Formats: sequence, C-alpha cells, structure tokens
Amino acid sequence: MVDYYHHNSSILEHALSVSFLSYLICKKLKLDYVSGARGGLLHDFFLYDWREYKRNPNNKNHGLYHPKVALRNSHECFEINDIECDIILKHMWPKVLGLPKYWESVVVCFADKFCTCNEYLVKSLLFTSNQSKKLRHRNRYRKKAA
Ligand SMILES: [Fe+2]
Ligand SMILES: [Fe+2]
Repeated sequence: MVDYYHHNSSILEHALSVSFLSYLICKKLKLDYVSGARGGLLHDFFLYDWREYKRNPNNKNHGLYHPKVALRNSHECFEINDIECDIILKHMWPKVLGLPKYWESVVVCFADKFCTCNEYLVKSLLFTSNQSKKLRHRNRYRKKAA
C-alpha cells in the first residue's frame, strides 16, 4: 500500500489517517473501536494506481469497484468480522448503493471523506511530504517510460 500514490500521499498513509480518526471517534462514541480502526485500515486495500486504472476505458468504475477489491484482499489476508466487511463495502456511500449497517461504518465513511478533503486541500496547499514527492516523481517516471 505504501507504493501506490493516493490523493497526495500513499494508500497506506491515507488508510492510517482514516483508521486513527475512526478509532478516536468510535472510542468517544463507545462503539467498537477495534473494528472501526481495522476497517479504516483496510477500506482502501487495493493494490493498483487508480489513475492508471482509469485510463483503460474497459475497466469498471473505480469508485464503485475498489471496495469489492479491498474486501476480497482483506478476506485473503485477514479474518474480518461483519462490521469490518460492512465498513469496507460501504465506505464510498452514497456512491455505492445500500446504507451502512453499523454506526462504525458511518464513522469510517465520514473519516474517509474528512481525511480525503484534508489530503487534497490542506496538505496540497500547505506542504507536501517527502514520501508524496517521491511517489509523484515515480509516477511521472512510469508515465514517461510507458
Ligand atoms: Fe475508497
Ligand atoms: Fe479512502
């Protein structure tokens, strides 16, 4: 996950932010903060650069498709409970159909949007991390090589 550029950093950096924020909110609200944190970590567990993925017109809509990929990868690598499954599948709500079944899913859905806005707006306006620069440089190099 650390190798794939996402928003303005990597998928891993984004997932860690979503996970930590979800953990804090779930703990404050006396929800299942372990499932909230784990679901936040796994919600974008897809291992491809979505910008490259979108260039192929035959590929499915990434926004709708990647929660299913993340769920499949999560099942392959870990034992996940019903709450974590729902978090992963519904984190793109309202883009994906079906309401979140658990409050933890609502929390991660919110945390994902908050972190995404933060990553796109605040971080890109104020500073860029060294990792972000490295990943962007690598993506540019890949495009030139292709
Ligand atoms: Fe996502
Ligand atoms: Fe996300």
